[in-house]
Amino acid sequence: MESKGNIIVTGGAGFIGSHTVVELIEEGYNPIIIDDFRNSEKFILDRLQEITGVKIIAYNFDCANQEKLQEVFEKHKPSGVIHFAADKAVGESVANPLKYYQNNLGSLVVILDTCIKNNVTNFVFSSSCTVYVEPEETPVKETTAMGYTASPYGYTKQVCERICQDTAYANPELKITLLRYFNPIGAHSSGLIGELPIGVPNNLVPYITQTAVGLREELTVHGNDYDTTDGTCIRDYIHVVDLANAHVKAIEAAKNSKEAVVIYNVGTGVGSTVLDVIQAFEKVNNLKLNYKIGPRREGDAVTVYANNEKVVSGLGWKPKFSLEDAMQHAWNWQQKLK
Ligand code: UFG
Repeated sequence: MESKGNIIVTGGAGFIGSHTVVELIEEGYNPIIIDDFRNSEKFILDRLQEITGVKIIAYNFDCANQEKLQEVFEKHKPSGVIHFAADKAVGESVANPLKYYQNNLGSLVVILDTCIKNNVTNFVFSSSCTVYVEPEETPVKETTAMGYTASPYGYTKQVCERICQDTAYANPELKITLLRYFNPIGAHSSGLIGELPIGVPNNLVPYITQTAVGLREELTVHGNDYDTTDGTCIRDYIHVVDLANAHVKAIEAAKNSKEAVVIYNVGTGVGSTVLDVIQAFEKVNNLKLNYKIGPRREGDAVTVYANNEKVVSGLGWKPKFSLEDAMQHAWNWQQKLK
């Protein structure tokens, strides 16, 4: 198959990045990874090779390094860039805001500048439903107002979106797609790549799988007195492979786009409570999870799930995997890690 072109993937060894590399290869693209492995593992590159049967091209440096970036752009002449590399821990960002402003904003500025200097016309940015904070309407539409976010991490996503928009309007050749992810979970069905949280996981699904495998004693459900069907918070959990596929579709669609910037919510459109997720995990894997109900976690929104009509019609994308599939794949990955 003739290659559809080179796509630079910053953070390509990370959770969503690595799954996107697989999808890009399956769709005929040639991904070029830039990752400094500060929050990912080198063995993921071997795994990517094992899954795809393709020699993976990867560069190990901080993508805020413009000189090195320029060399890679000159060598590979990418037709598109997907920018994942960023810090993403909400709590850490409160403790160390400058790290987040420097890394998340700094690298974006450098990469966009390098795109313009090298006539790259297609840029996809990893945004998040965190920009809505506590959304004023659900399901959440792209037009739902952004809220005031107390977390520097969340604020970097809002500012990065603005940086992308300003850049796209000033540089009409560069088409930018902002993908606002809801809650990515699961792993590749091979069990060869998946999420690798550092230390004690903050997120629900890695906490569940680490508890089931015996790394954590029990899961605490953060509050069951919310105004929802079972009292626990509602989120839109999306299988990481489906999310990865949305990036490939975004790259394809931008080739013929007349708009400078397009924003998509990437979620399943279905809200699940914390207890729904636990039950799906127990059912599909035939396990009992050790969990207790604890107090609310500060800063949690009650209900966040996507209206995904725009991404379904605009990109011809729809999720293929269920919550159960994701919980089975996450468990498969966790067991192979042990
Ligand atoms: N939860 C628990 N116990 C845990 C972990 C999580 O009950 O041990 C609950 C949370 O309270 C929440 C739900 O599971 O109700 C999902 O929590 P996550 O931490 O997995 O995900 P969040 O929706 O809180 O956070 C995610 C991303 C953030 C992003 C945020 C935006 O991880 O990066 O969405 O809403 F900022």
